[in-house]
Amino acid sequence: MVRTIVQLGSPILKTRCRELDRTELAGEPFRSLARDMFETLASSGGVGLAAPQVGESVRLILAGSFPSARAPDRPEVPIRALVNARIAWASPETDAAWEGCLSFLDYRVQLVRPTTVRVEFLDLEGKQACLEASGFYARVLQHEIDHLDGILTLDRAASPGDIERLGPA
Ligand code: NI
Repeated sequence: MVRTIVQLGSPILKTRCRELDRTELAGEPFRSLARDMFETLASSGGVGLAAPQVGESVRLILAGSFPSARAPDRPEVPIRALVNARIAWASPETDAAWEGCLSFLDYRVQLVRPTTVRVEFLDLEGKQACLEASGFYARVLQHEIDHLDGILTLDRAASPGDIERLGPA
């Protein structure tokens, strides 16, 4: 089921989400949340989604990457689900890029983030897993993990010039 994406201003977007217990992962509430998030992200055309964005304050994110008309150079990384994802290591090298968010489509924010990260997480079956990502995909992962801590790109903007309004003024 495609869910409504929670929009800027809702307190759940500013709340730290709780960890998921391995035993929850086999249960129907979790399975249907994960299913709904895949459907919601697919219908939005986005590359990442965090559970609080569909109203559930738990540490589940989806993240991937694919080229778009505006960003034809993005790599192809299948969307996958990561439970209790955390940044285990981040490179000292950083880069700056503009990021959008499905919870406030009218804005984009320019952020400096580590270029490469290692992320530890559980997969949907509860198996411990680890991945390393660079560039755009690393940025998507960091953006979604931020959501789990109630942090939005708008909070991280270094100056007002790093926030751009896209929609009608
Ligand atoms: Ni977002």
